Amino acid sequence: MKASLPGFLALVFALSMICIPEVFAQQGAPVFADVDRIFQAQCVTCHSGTRPPEGLHLDSYSGVMAGSKDLQVIVKGEPGKSELVKRIKRISKPRMPKDGPPWLTEKDTALIEKWIAAGAPQ
Ligand code: HEC
Repeated sequence: MKASLPGFLALVFALSMICIPEVFAQQGAPVFADVDRIFQAQCVTCHSGTRPPEGLHLDSYSGVMAGSKDLQVIVKGEPGKSELVKRIKRISKPRMPKDGPPWLTEKDTALIEKWIAAGAPQ
């Protein structure tokens, strides 16, 4: 069968439209806005306001970095030592979000880990 050049080009174009935004999205370290989307969707119903559990605000960068009344929940550069990660992966209990499921997707969990590994930039 003779391959059709226009058909081939159309296929290349279609594939690049699918792949290119993905490639750009992967570039660079995640910033707070990327993880804030997850906190807003799954954490702030409890972790905001005047008396959030354990004093932990997750509705702003300063709140997340300030941590709870007892500890820093983010250890910059160390996702494995960060209590926030331990909670969403159920290494520490109770798992967060407290009344889940739904738990965080693997993709969102990985994004938070990547953000912390990159030093939790604002
Ligand atoms: C339904 C309410 C609720 C939601 C939603 C929720 N939490 Fe919590 N969170 C709590 C409560 C209550 C505690 C204290 C429980 C405990 O540790 O015994 C807590 C504790 C924590 C702690 C431990 C703080 C410390 O000092 O030990 C972390 C970290 C945490 N939450 C992160 C999150 C994250 C991240 C999300 C979103 C993915 C989330 N939480 C969603 C209610 C909630």
